[in-house]
Amino acid sequence: MNTPTPRPRILIARAVFPEVIQRLAQRFEVDSNQADEVLDAAQLVARLQGQQGLLSTAGDVIDEALLAQCPSLRICANMAVGFGNLDIAAMSARGIVATHTPGVLTDTTADFGFALLMAAARRTGEAERCVREGRWTKWSYDFMAGQEVHGSTLGILGMGRIGQGVARRGAHGFGMRVIYHSRTRLDAASEASIPAHFVGLNALLQQSDHLVLTVAHSAATHHLIDAAALARMKPTATLVNIARGGVVDERALIEALRNGVIAAAGLDVFENEPAVHPALLSLPNVVLTPHMASASRATRLRMAHLAADNLIAFFETGRALTPVPAPALSAPA
Ligand code: GLV
Repeated sequence: MNTPTPRPRILIARAVFPEVIQRLAQRFEVDSNQADEVLDAAQLVARLQGQQGLLSTAGDVIDEALLAQCPSLRICANMAVGFGNLDIAAMSARGIVATHTPGVLTDTTADFGFALLMAAARRTGEAERCVREGRWTKWSYDFMAGQEVHGSTLGILGMGRIGQGVARRGAHGFGMRVIYHSRTRLDAASEASIPAHFVGLNALLQQSDHLVLTVAHSAATHHLIDAAALARMKPTATLVNIARGGVVDERALIEALRNGVIAAAGLDVFENEPAVHPALLSLPNVVLTPHMASASRATRLRMAHLAADNLIAFFETGRALTPVPAPALSAPA
């Protein structure tokens, strides 16, 4: 009598939609963390013993130290388009597949980038606090006067899918002139369809009225926006970060916002998430959101299903659907 092949074992590192767990449980032995405890490295290692697959999120750090202690692991399906939490070099050296969730979150994330741009430029966070705190007492000619959005110059750093989504919203919806800087220049047809103009980094910093960061975080982009870069920006400029906190030197940004080097910022990502630098909390001219740019229910469900699809395809066919591209660490989102 043939003994049945054991089903692959997988760990779902954080709570996820029950219907996604049900799909996975039809094919795999599933250990899920519906209690949604944030597992530290030691807990993750303990839960990964004997597991061949992992459905991870952007907060789960998968590095060489962890991999060395989890010899059964064959695939990590990250429920995020970014993959800075995965040591891709260490994973590929061990033959472990890494996947991410590109495409399904592009428009939702671009929508949110634009929301932050609007909020920072038109001071909506500051204005809302003012109303709630009973400080709205009279009309004044310059009360809550912010920066113009329509017809202004929109700068995009990192022109991947999300950058292009933000660019299209600005150009088509708000009549903005779009300039961008990216590792890879778009082809002429894509540039013309937005339309967007490729410029050097210095020109991007100097000419943008609103600069949106969508570039992947890597050694090459770490603290790309530092004190010197901020000093090149217009004093009326706004900066929006929907990429990763490490792209911006947070201390330099705090000084720039304090001293009027730039006018305002909208931040969805931070250097030490979920901790936010206390100085940011007390600055009026920064809008702070908790890494939620992809957080519509429909998009989060699509992301979870795509991560699950990757696990299923990998174990059933040997090929994942959306592996992390090579060279991994500098691909734009
Ligand atoms: C969110 O930040 C993601 O990378 O999907």
